[in-house]
Amino acid sequence: MATVLSVSGSPSASSRTNRLLRHLDNRLTAQGHEVIPLDVRTIPAEALLGADFRHPAIVEATALFARVDGIVIGTPVYKAAYSGVLKALLDLLPQYALTGKTVLPLATGGTTAHVLAIDYALRPVLSSMGARHIVQGWFTLDKDIAVGEDGGLTVAPAAAEALTQVLDQFSEALGRTPILAAAG
Ligand SMILES: Cc1cc2nc3c(=O)[nH]c(=O)nc-3n(C[C@H](O)[C@H](O)[C@H](O)COP(=O)(O)O)c2cc1C
Repeated sequence: MATVLSVSGSPSASSRTNRLLRHLDNRLTAQGHEVIPLDVRTIPAEALLGADFRHPAIVEATALFARVDGIVIGTPVYKAAYSGVLKALLDLLPQYALTGKTVLPLATGGTTAHVLAIDYALRPVLSSMGARHIVQGWFTLDKDIAVGEDGGLTVAPAAAEALTQVLDQFSEALGRTPILAAAG
């Protein structure tokens, strides 16, 4: 099976995007994939804001992107686009860091007015970084993601169904990807 990097691009400590991604990671793991979570907010700010390509956290993140077969990339919609911290990380990766990768773009947002942010904002960036196959993404309304007192996550049924569908399409696309990492 494939190795997947699951990148949450929210700066928020109580991020819905992050919780949603970690919830979806479980399904990928159950399908036999190895999932590596990466929360951009855990990367030191001085590395991201100082464009410190040699910072150990950036070197480590770069190695993770290079190592995996697939990437789930989730962002909150901020000002009609992706978050600034996600872009700060992408800016520090090599230009073609996504070459040969299968990518699933996901977003959470407060209004359906920005449902296309994945396609007009995020997708072109991923494409410019060489992604081999960017599968259909999904925008989830923040009000459709509820966190219980026990920390458990509930996703509104229609959103959950759509997310399952795009996740399974991603998983299937990964199955068609030649696994090159095994050579290492
Ligand atoms: C600074 C800021 C800007 C936002 N801008 C938008 C926006 O332009 N469009 C939108 O649909 N939602 C916007 N939102 C709402 C968030 O995208 C939404 O609540 C999201 O689920 C937050 O994800 P998080 O908890 O992972 O940070 C904004 C929220 C913040 C804090």
